[in-house]
Amino acid sequence: MTENNKRIAVIGAGTMGRGIAQVFAQSGFDAYVFDAFPEALKSASKQINKMLDRGVEKGRMSADDAASTKARLHFVESLSDVGKQPLIVEAATEKLETKIAILRDAQQHVADDGILASNTSSISITQLAAAVDHPDRFIGMHFFNPVPLMKLVEIVRGLQTSDETARKTMELATAVGKTAVSCNDHPGFVSNRILMPMINEAIFTLQDGVAEAKAIDDIMTLGMNHPMGPLALADLIGLDVCLHIMEVMFRDLGEDRYRPCPMLRKYVAAGRMGRKSKRGFYSYE
Ligand code: CAA
Repeated sequence: MTENNKRIAVIGAGTMGRGIAQVFAQSGFDAYVFDAFPEALKSASKQINKMLDRGVEKGRMSADDAASTKARLHFVESLSDVGKQPLIVEAATEKLETKIAILRDAQQHVADDGILASNTSSISITQLAAAVDHPDRFIGMHFFNPVPLMKLVEIVRGLQTSDETARKTMELATAVGKTAVSCNDHPGFVSNRILMPMINEAIFTLQDGVAEAKAIDDIMTLGMNHPMGPLALADLIGLDVCLHIMEVMFRDLGEDRYRPCPMLRKYVAAGRMGRKSKRGFYSYE
């Protein structure tokens, strides 16, 4: 990849979008973060700066590197003025219609041989690809939260994704210090097909009164060496996101084992979304 090509646009300045932009900027890419909400751009810029400053304080990064990373991050309210991009990663809200509308617009800003990727955690890559003009240059680039700390990018190949697109996307993920692992498009991909039923089962365990939330998490952290327990992890991911992924798998795989736990539905209905709403299985006040 030539220096001129070291550019990326990220659509959506939420938790995932800002993390993706930070990781690319830290690896020498100019990263354009687009969001329709100026408040989201402001909040993303503030949070990334805080993380970078903390990295300098803790000796994880030099002050020069933090300054050049900041200079490579551009928070924009339109993609029209920033030129065609070799890579655009969509990290907007997990709604099919919203994503399709965003991707149809975004494809105008992708270079002729560029790649359009989605960070979706649950929507079919093949279905999203069918909505754009070049499904062969469309792919899933699934990052993990918190993006700057997590090593994996799950590269999800849709039915029409070309070998060339898959190869280039793997290279790009590697270029920003991640380990890229490829899989085929299928509900939940690999990561969420395995992770979400575990989280869902932890919620059933809580609902059945087998143990308190903290005890369930302690058993999984201390007994299985998981870095955090499934309920704390659900709070980090967002309970609405967990529910949405379970619903997609339940609908598209059609098996009882993917049935979302009623307690998960109840918490989401009550607005207890986890860390982002300051309350989930734990309180973050
Ligand atoms: N940028 C830079 N630095 C960051 C950061 C960021 N965005 N976020 C945190 N850090 C820093 C912290 O500030 C901290 O620095 P200090 O030492 O200065 O305090 C450092 O990184 C380590 O942070 P923690 O002390 O919080 O780290 P930890 O050792 O407790 O690990 C964790 C935290 C990495 C989140 C770990 O608990 C973990 O791996 N948890 C599991 C996470 C996981 O499974 N994620 C995947 C969720 S699934 C998903 O995302 C996909 C999906 O489709 C649902």
